[in-house]
Amino acid sequence: SRRITVRDIAAAKERGEKWPMLTAYDAMTASVFDEAGIPVLLVGDSMGNCHLGYESTVPVTMDEITILAAAVVRGTKRALIVGDLPFGAYQEGPVQALRSATRLIKEAGVGAVKLEGGERSADQIELLVRSGIPVMAHIGLTPQSVNAFGGYPVQGRGEEAAQQLLRDAKAAQDAGAFAVVLELVPAELAAEATRSLHIPTVGIGAGVECDAQVLVWTDMAGLTSGRVPRFVKQYAQLRETLGEAARAFADDVIGSTYPAPEHAFH
Ligand code: KIV
Ligand code: NA
Repeated sequence: SRRITVRDIAAAKERGEKWPMLTAYDAMTASVFDEAGIPVLLVGDSMGNCHLGYESTVPVTMDEITILAAAVVRGTKRALIVGDLPFGAYQEGPVQALRSATRLIKEAGVGAVKLEGGERSADQIELLVRSGIPVMAHIGLTPQSVNAFGGYPVQGRGEEAAQQLLRDAKAAQDAGAFAVVLELVPAELAAEATRSLHIPTVGIGAGVECDAQVLVWTDMAGLTSGRVPRFVKQYAQLRETLGEAARAFADDVIGSTYPAPEHAFH
């Protein structure tokens, strides 16, 4: 069976079908999500926080995204793999964006790329799309701008900010994006954007009326340490489960109950 493509994504919106998206950063986890039928996997620059131990997504490099995206592609058969363009890999302009996106397509084998910005990234989106590279845009809270935002506040509150968000959504669509992520946007505004676009919206902290929903997988599965944002629903408690497994293994080793006779060779 073939991979999901951006044409399947467009058809889903026409049929009014919703779809889930998760992040993935390695082949093994990606294969679990692929087998579970998640149609779109994002090799997000959130790997900076949850996988590489950085404080934000800002330090993530093209080398890091490319290596992990290649692993996710190798671990999957059916999902559309979207690779994030990290901070600094497309802000210089369309030509830099094309160089970065081309590298992800050729070296990692992703089927699409994602970048942050609507109006401000329209020229980049347009050149990539003209070059045959499907682009997912990302507006609202754009974490690569954390230093400008001074944190991770909800976006699009107030009339002026709401109008800007709708302009960003429209600009992404007009530039040729096949979908647009709405992050940390009031639910009513996200619903309005979703109704006004013919491309699907992918919500994260943006209410139930988006066409699709995305979560960072380590948040979704309860592996993240400490507090998770209010919009996250945890579908498992992997941090607890994995910690218990590690403690049980340690106890067995210290108490000489592992390896047992059936684990030994003679
Ligand atoms: O990097 C990421 O995980 C993302 C999603 C939160 C949309 O950009
Ligand atoms: Na991201």
